[in-house]
Amino acid sequence: MSTAISPTAYNYKVVRQFAIMTVVWGILGMGLGVFIASQLVWPQLNLDLPWTSFGRLRPLHTNLVIFAFGGCALFGTSYYVVQRTCQTRLISDSMAAFTFWGWQAVIVGALITLPMGFTTTKEYAELEWPLAILLAIVWVTYGLVFFGTIVKRKTKHIYVGNWFYGAFIVVTAMLHIVNHMSLPVSLFKSYSAYAGATDAMIQWWYGHNAVGFFLTTGFLGMMYYFVPKQAERPIYSYRLSIVHFWALITLYIWAGPHHLHYTALPDWAQSLGMVMSIILLAPSWGGMINGMMTLSGAWHKLRTDPILRFLVVSLAFYGMSTFEGPMMAIKTVNSLSHYTDWTIGHVHAGALGWVAMISIGAVYHMIPKLYGREQMHSVGLINAHFWLATIGTVLYIASMWVNGITQGLMWRAINDDGTLTYSFVEALQASHPGYIVRALGGAFFASGMLLMAYNVFRTVRAANPVQAEEAAKIVVVGAH
Ligand code: HEM
Ligand code: HEM
Repeated sequence: MSTAISPTAYNYKVVRQFAIMTVVWGILGMGLGVFIASQLVWPQLNLDLPWTSFGRLRPLHTNLVIFAFGGCALFGTSYYVVQRTCQTRLISDSMAAFTFWGWQAVIVGALITLPMGFTTTKEYAELEWPLAILLAIVWVTYGLVFFGTIVKRKTKHIYVGNWFYGAFIVVTAMLHIVNHMSLPVSLFKSYSAYAGATDAMIQWWYGHNAVGFFLTTGFLGMMYYFVPKQAERPIYSYRLSIVHFWALITLYIWAGPHHLHYTALPDWAQSLGMVMSIILLAPSWGGMINGMMTLSGAWHKLRTDPILRFLVVSLAFYGMSTFEGPMMAIKTVNSLSHYTDWTIGHVHAGALGWVAMISIGAVYHMIPKLYGREQMHSVGLINAHFWLATIGTVLYIASMWVNGITQGLMWRAINDDGTLTYSFVEALQASHPGYIVRALGGAFFASGMLLMAYNVFRTVRAANPVQAEEAAKIVVVGAH
């Protein structure tokens, strides 16, 4: 098979922009995470100001880490992967640029409006209607760029990573638009179109699938490209990846009611959500095993390649959180875990261990390629980052497990005469050491991001524009 250099080039500009902003928003979002974690240790840090109170900064944290950090990682990697696996340039440079600037505008809008207290009050969908509409327009444009590029591909086959990215784009649009249906009463206030239990069900159908499609399916697209690339091995089983895809997207959409156990939601809906969540373990682990086994014959690379370590450890945390999730979906287990820090531990096992680690690995893989460099400025710093991230995640989730189970047991303990054994404040006091450990773990994780920023800065600064342009040339395999 001969190889020819095509005169056209990939659009790496937009990928570079998103990759850099992944690091920037990662630092801000996680730095804010450390700040709100510290507020739970030292409440004086609320500073007695409305804008800096925990209640306003918490949703800002979730918006920054999920949509800014995670979102930029997903946009950047999907544009990189779709171009390389379709061997063609993005369908439109201006539309791609619009998605970059539009997305940043939404995030800056969140940075301003959330501390001011403008919120729909729906978790992970807090942005008021003008920003929600801008987000919808950016997202639809993203879909057009992504699927348009697939349509004009030079390859016969659509690589499985693109299936995952594609499902993530389509379902996120559907969730966002349906959950945001509302009646605006002023520029910054709207009321949901749904009421009561229906509103709760729509919100958690959205919320759970935000986890399933935004925080999972998109990142699985990343996994299917970057793990084989970094390991220099083909994916373990292509057939399994197709079964994984269809099983995952068919099941996820039903699991939302596990967020509403023991509420006014009809009992049958709660039980259905529980059963679907338990079945979800199978495709989740199928995907995890497919990723892990890709390393067969290449395990030794883990000794020398910290980027591969990020990718593989992210899969281990994915496996762990998708085992824990189905267990927490069982109603009797949920009666202990719900409202406690156990949920927060589960969230961050997925968020730090899986989402952040795989994104970091993917960005380290892409940066040298995007700028025409052999490798990152310092492999030693990537290694230090890896250990800070791993130790930070373990400290975070272990402390939250201890806190969660302690809280659950203390809240339900009753004396012989039926009165509560412990007051709420006693359970809070028992949680204090755990909050200190969590803040420390978060500080480990966030400081790793600072090392990353320095490493990326040095790599980019050393880049030579001619080499960077050369790196973007499309190499068409199989051309004559
Ligand atoms: C340095 C890293 C981080 C620290 C210290 C941190 C800290 C926190 C804290 C203190 C809370 C509030 C917990 C509570 O209300 O009791 C929280 C909530 C949350 N964080 Fe983080 N976080 C970090 C990174 C991340 C990342 C990278 C993501 C996602 C990719 C994430 C997603 C979330 C979500 C979804 C919630 C809400 C959980 C819920 O409502 O159950 N966090 N975080
Ligand atoms: C098979 C996979 C999974 C299942 C069945 C599952 C199940 C659950 C359950 C039962 C809860 C607690 C609901 C409650 O008591 O309120 C929960 C909360 C949560 N999970 Fe998972 N989980 C899974 C995977 C993941 C992954 C991989 C992530 C992150 C990347 C994640 C992120 C979250 C978040 C953010 C929440 C908190 C939602 C909130 O209350 O704000 N989950 N999950």
